[in-house]
Amino acid sequence: TERIIDVLEAFAADGWKASQDAEARAFGELVVSETSARLVELFFATTALKKDSGVDDPTVTARPVERIAMIGAGFMGAGIAYVSSNAGISVRLKDQDGPALARGLKAVADIYAGRVRRRALTPIEQKLKLALVTATTDTSGLGSADIVIEAVFEDIALKHRILREVEAVTGPTTVFASNTSSLPIGRIAEASARPETVLGMHYFSPVHKMPLLEVIVTPQTAPWATATAVALGKRQGKTVIVVNDGVGFYTTRILGTYMNEAAYLLAEGVPVEEIDRALVSWGWPVGPMALIDEVGIDVAAHVGPIMQAAFGDRMEPPATVRKLVDDGRKGRKNERGLYLYGAAAKKARGPLGRGPAKQPDPSVYRLLGVTPRPGAMTPEEIAMRCTLQLVNEALHAWGDGILRSPRDGDIGAIFGLGFPPFRGGPFRYVDQLGATEVLRRVRSFEDRHGKRWTPAPALVEAAKSGRKFHGLERRGGGPVRSTGIVRGRRHGAAPPPPVRSTGGPRIASRASRMQVTGERRT
Ligand SMILES: NC(=O)c1ccc[n+]([C@@H]2O[C@H](COP(=O)([O-])OP(=O)(O)OC[C@H]3O[C@@H](n4cnc5c(N)ncnc54)[C@H](O)[C@@H]3O)[C@@H](O)[C@H]2O)c1
Repeated sequence: TERIIDVLEAFAADGWKASQDAEARAFGELVVSETSARLVELFFATTALKKDSGVDDPTVTARPVERIAMIGAGFMGAGIAYVSSNAGISVRLKDQDGPALARGLKAVADIYAGRVRRRALTPIEQKLKLALVTATTDTSGLGSADIVIEAVFEDIALKHRILREVEAVTGPTTVFASNTSSLPIGRIAEASARPETVLGMHYFSPVHKMPLLEVIVTPQTAPWATATAVALGKRQGKTVIVVNDGVGFYTTRILGTYMNEAAYLLAEGVPVEEIDRALVSWGWPVGPMALIDEVGIDVAAHVGPIMQAAFGDRMEPPATVRKLVDDGRKGRKNERGLYLYGAAAKKARGPLGRGPAKQPDPSVYRLLGVTPRPGAMTPEEIAMRCTLQLVNEALHAWGDGILRSPRDGDIGAIFGLGFPPFRGGPFRYVDQLGATEVLRRVRSFEDRHGKRWTPAPALVEAAKSGRKFHGLERRGGGPVRSTGIVRGRRHGAAPPPPVRSTGGPRIASRASRMQVTGERRT
């Protein structure tokens, strides 16, 4: 934008020829910039993913999907029903009672109505697409589904019950997918008589806007089932990565350390708005404080202990999170969080409504027993504290065999969580900055803040060998193991060999215009 303004200024000051010269100079500078290189790489990564079936065996093909069943017509279920019907797929939507189903159907209809209002869809198209969604409170119509996706409450016993009910009325080629955001798929599959058909399809909210789908496979998942889920995700318009099973999969796990670090910053007295401003100016679409209010403080507090039980010290949350939950703060949904909402926000903006649209709730500091220290930490340090936690965890996930390639790790962070696209994702970021420098920064945080900053073994190894992550998969070696326990391989099978990534700059792309929305996600 600055360069465009330079060109316009040159035109205003010195005329047409001067502006052409300024434009040529600016283009020349930008086209060889790091930002341009990262966005071109991202374009090639997404192009390669479009051609990737999600499995390494080229003889495996996806089964056709004409009908899906959606169990749970809540926030996520309605979104998945929308993206599926929009792709021309019949959806059997099931919930426990009429009112829940009605809410789900209304949510789907509302998304279509919005598109008609924006003239992106004709009323006839709207009716045809909406007619693809039928509703039920029993198991009728489930038997003919090619894939059943469940998005009921995050409760393992309930998910087991749903799985058994579904398997009782479906055949051996029906894929069962869970949209869980934290439960390992292997645990869900324990209730299955056909674990080869069970996998995770982790959508992000709001489903109709967020571009990523994370497909999670266990060592028992059949390659045809994986390929079928990946093909469905692509038809739904998603960029799909396939990851191995483990607590928090890939995205939830790396987001966990990022959010945790933000909570530590708050506990140290860094003001809420300074944390968010620092991360937004580093390139994130939304800061972690605003994000936790959107996702739900209660949801974060629920996932935190699960992560800590699996990963120990480095996921230990500060006491602040529990204090917020005990005070009944859930975030935007109950209008009580780190920011002010509703009448309180209106009051804080003053009688003429001139104050900032989003104001932190000052009572948070009293509740936490923290004295805010404005300006005590630089924006760079704040951004590094949160981002390097995420990067270090991405490298742990790589070492644990969760990812098929650094490419998928970058795509997952950018498209699922909003990692700044022009910085290329966690793996590109390390490759660009150099593993030695990243390790130096992580170690200096470890000296000051202790065990949660222990560098990932893959980072230490990369700093020692000088190898870059991108390209590592092409040398034929499997991922570097970070611990004796390879979480994605709990059932004994080897992780699929990492994928070959295509690369090499050629032309700038749609990726360079890509917007990652900052809306609610987990
Ligand atoms: N909300 C998010 O941001 C998000 C993101 C990714 C994944 N998820 C996961 O998706 C799942 C659903 O989350 P949500 O936010 O849509 O929850 P929600 O509360 O909005 O919806 C859950 C729905 O499941 C229905 N349900 C409960 N028991 C049922 C049963 N026995 N049979 C049929 N329907 C039943 C409920 O009536 C409700 O409509 C959870 O596992 C959650 O972890 C949520």
